[in-house]
Amino acid sequence: MRIINVVGARPNFMKIAPLMAAYPAHPALEPLLVHTGQHYDHAMSTLFFEELGIPRPDLNLGVHGGSHASQHARVMTAFEEVCKTHRPDLVLVVGDVNSTLSCALVASKLGIRVAHVEAGLRSFDRTMPEEINRVLTDQISDLLFVSEQSGLVNLAREGLDHEGVHFVGNVMIDSLMRNLEKARRSTVLDDHGLEPRGYAALTMHRPANVDDPEVLAGLLDVVERVAAEQRIVFPAHPRTLDRLDSFGLRGRLDALDAVTVVPPMGYLDFLHLVGHARIILTDSGGIQEETTVLRVPCITLRESTERPSTCLIGTNRLAGVDPDRIWAEYRAGMDSDPAAFGIPAKWDGKAAERIAAALADEGPRPRSAALGWTAHGALPRLSRA
Ligand code: UD1
Repeated sequence: MRIINVVGARPNFMKIAPLMAAYPAHPALEPLLVHTGQHYDHAMSTLFFEELGIPRPDLNLGVHGGSHASQHARVMTAFEEVCKTHRPDLVLVVGDVNSTLSCALVASKLGIRVAHVEAGLRSFDRTMPEEINRVLTDQISDLLFVSEQSGLVNLAREGLDHEGVHFVGNVMIDSLMRNLEKARRSTVLDDHGLEPRGYAALTMHRPANVDDPEVLAGLLDVVERVAAEQRIVFPAHPRTLDRLDSFGLRGRLDALDAVTVVPPMGYLDFLHLVGHARIILTDSGGIQEETTVLRVPCITLRESTERPSTCLIGTNRLAGVDPDRIWAEYRAGMDSDPAAFGIPAKWDGKAAERIAAALADEGPRPRSAALGWTAHGALPRLSRA
């Protein structure tokens, strides 16, 4: 059973790593790895392959930059050729980045079965490109591997409660558990003169936060307030640095002695940084999950989360982007006891094993014409009365 596995952007790499490691236990599975090239430089891509022990991609499509439409179009055109040449039985995509949807769509149109890892997550905010990618990818996937309970509910609401849905747990957490020991050897705290639990870590890169000068300026207000009471380490995404410069806001950040702006970090350094932080402020999706397992308070700089179990069970607090509300959540997070929070079901480091076993059980088989709908009698009953 030939499986083409797709990665494109940074958050995909920690999701695919445990899967590539789990496949060899099932000799019937023949995995190929395709990198679309969406993220391409050392800090955002190559370093993650090295640290996570991901095999070199069999193919790199070399597509990066440009508008969303252009990114989708170029990935789709290149990936169609890959599918025609390599004739996979299944295409497996992870997460919610543009490459995820592009490749799922190509495979689906070629009649190739699609598996989506991290299915069912919904922020219910369709201004987020990731939400569009999630909703559409799930609709055209044959196998839906779900990471948290809310995913099952969301899929059912969309008529996707078919036999291809598997609640397997969280592959991000597989990577975290596999690498925690290695991350302990990181020198990142010493490098920046940090004491364990003596600093906050900050990340922000969402278009809604960094592409709007008013929102970005408001987030800087909060950074200034936090910096007045503790050190902040800010591994900055290229998009964010670009916007800070173009909106003339970079000076405000540079003026803060307590804030250390560093380039995007590798996986191991970042894990170590987050694991020893007093608190995290972030607009990332994956970091909400990692902090939950590491039991570090997380303040999420967004109005919605597609990972509600991190708030219901874990250490996460949804703070929005209003500076006063963020400050209130920050204070509550600082006062909370992370040990009192729990860890969602099946976030146990075995999600990739479950996925590989499910794929091996499936074996190669033709695509079913009608998923979900007819299988569950969801078609409306027509009556002549
Ligand atoms: C993408 C994902 C987002 C994910 C994020 C993690 C989509 C829609 N968004 O957003 O879900 O959380 O990745 O980083 O797919 N850049 C570099 N070097 C790189 C990669 C990007 O300098 O290796 C620059 C690009 O040139 C561009 C900017 O970063 O200017 C944004 O890259 P892009 O891939 O368009 O989306 P992200 O904002 O990174």
